[in-house]
Amino acid sequence: MPNKSADQATLIVIKPDGLKKSLTGNILTRLSETKLEIVAAKMVRVSRELAAEHYRHLQDKPFFEDVLRYLMGEFHDRYKVMALIYWGENAITKCRSLAGATNPEEADSVSIRGSYGRITTRGVYENVVHVSANPEDAQREIKLWFNPDEVIVDLYPSKKVVETVEKREWV
Ligand code: TYD
Repeated sequence: MPNKSADQATLIVIKPDGLKKSLTGNILTRLSETKLEIVAAKMVRVSRELAAEHYRHLQDKPFFEDVLRYLMGEFHDRYKVMALIYWGENAITKCRSLAGATNPEEADSVSIRGSYGRITTRGVYENVVHVSANPEDAQREIKLWFNPDEVIVDLYPSKKVVETVEKREWV
């Protein structure tokens, strides 16, 4: 498998508002302008544990509970998100630039968040997508959201383990 370590990876999450507003295709089209490679993609039902770990840097903020509920889908009655990994040169800068500022009101109006985000009356920034902030966060987040076998390149060192697990299979 290729391992271009000079290249960067970023986690992208299309949040529940993006799914509810049917923006998935649009967002992926916008992100394709980066010419980056998608090396992993899946739909995820976000648990409270996953949301809390993902946003652990915000745990002391007054809006922490609201961002958890937002990511879990409680505000949109859409209990899923789409998680992807984009990979290539300057992946983080390129994707964050297309996404726009965290606050949709301050985001460039042609950016994804500027076009489709909003601030709710509760004060939550519904900003449609998540993009990792820096390589350290990207590594932490990618390892949190994906197993090595779900990613088609070797982004980070991994090891083989043998375990007996209960899983569903097709009947
Ligand atoms: P943060 O990690 O600071 O920004 P980003 O997602 O751009 O890296 O914030 C995480 C999410 O928390 C953000 O996408 C929306 C929400 N949020 C608010 O609702 N209000 C706020 O004041 C901030 C800073 C973030």
